[in-house]
Amino acid sequence: MASQSAPPSIAVDSVLLKSEEMPEGSETVQGYDFNNGVDYHQLLKMYTTSGFQATNFGLAVEQINKMIEKKLEPLPEEVRQEANFNPVGREKTNCTIFLGYTSNLISSGVRETIRYLVQHNMVDVLVTTAGGIEEDFIKCMAPTYLGDFHLKGKELREKGINRIGNLLVPNNNYCLFEDWIMPILDQMLVEQQEQKVNWTPSKMIARLGKEIDNPQSVYYWAYKNNIPVFSPALTDGSLGDMLYFHSYKNPGLVLDIVEDIRRMNSQAIFAQNSGMIILGGGLVKHHICNANMMRNGADFSLFVNTAQEFDGSDSGARPDEAVSWGKIKKDAKPVKVYADASLVFPLLVAETFARNFPIKNGDRSLGEGTSSKKSKLS
Ligand SMILES: NC(=O)c1ccc[n+]([C@@H]2O[C@H](COP(=O)([O-])OP(=O)(O)OC[C@H]3O[C@@H](n4cnc5c(N)ncnc54)[C@H](O)[C@@H]3O)[C@@H](O)[C@H]2O)c1
Repeated sequence: MASQSAPPSIAVDSVLLKSEEMPEGSETVQGYDFNNGVDYHQLLKMYTTSGFQATNFGLAVEQINKMIEKKLEPLPEEVRQEANFNPVGREKTNCTIFLGYTSNLISSGVRETIRYLVQHNMVDVLVTTAGGIEEDFIKCMAPTYLGDFHLKGKELREKGINRIGNLLVPNNNYCLFEDWIMPILDQMLVEQQEQKVNWTPSKMIARLGKEIDNPQSVYYWAYKNNIPVFSPALTDGSLGDMLYFHSYKNPGLVLDIVEDIRRMNSQAIFAQNSGMIILGGGLVKHHICNANMMRNGADFSLFVNTAQEFDGSDSGARPDEAVSWGKIKKDAKPVKVYADASLVFPLLVAETFARNFPIKNGDRSLGEGTSSKKSKLS
């Protein structure tokens, strides 16, 4: 058989297909060059052109910086003269920033990043689940420890130690929590009966933030800065256990979630512009998105989570699904970063709020709580 001197044309045409020119302005892929030394800011800036989730990280930094820039712009004159409709009484800015996070993030060291944002009044509305409330207070009473994902449940149970991922919480911590919270629940019941206080989850969280009086706490600062904290499923955690026991010991306390949904939705409705930063999925993601539907969508959005969309879950839904519901504006440029928020969120804050948001009076100290109870609880 005669040998061929050229490769078959079908292979050549297929493998060496000619490209069209790339559109003008197309970015090239480039990562950080460590010959320039270890410069974390430059390294993180280069994420934008690195591809994959690194590029999404860069887009997330841009998205948060846009929220901050908008927030720092003065309100339009005509809006400043309007009556302030906010039932929470918080001063309006040009961009209302909603921050949502799952409970485990308060169990983790992300708590300190969230506390920084709340301490310096950088965000306007918080949404979390029950564990995200109680774990913050419990940490003021006794520490959470580092453990291991592989510790055996049976052995931990025998020792009275609870596991959250690779974190460990001794069960005694919850006993301290019970000792602290029961007299507060008693007092709340008295106020409900005698002063007709209509308690809601957000009012209860503010009250607990006042009572804890400890500057390590996220909700101490939320109380001080009048930042509302919404947690419509407040009973699904140790707080629910406490409310359950209290309902036997001293029955009658009521929490009104209907008043809270009005308070929550009004934060979005009366926002001049709105931004959503949502870490994790489930309730915290949907509650913020749903409120923003009341204003025909958020202007700026960032989701950081590990969930996928193939199962149709709201947790895994990409921002585009929220656009279809009017939860994000049609012309917005929302971002989703697929990542563990414990890795990513402190870095995001380092590149945004911590660099670009002015701190009032330059005061970076935590200061001290005001009551004598503080020393007992720190
Ligand atoms: N410490 C705790 O985690 C704790 C404590 C007490 C009660 N609970 C209760 O458990 C229930 C479920 O918790 P939940 O709704 O807060 O969230 P969850 O833990 O069920 O997480 C919801 C989704 O968020 C995403 N997610 C979670 N952690 C993430 C991370 N580190 N990075 C990126 N994405 C992440 C995942 O897609 C996950 O499926 C709640 O009612 C809560 O009160 C939790």
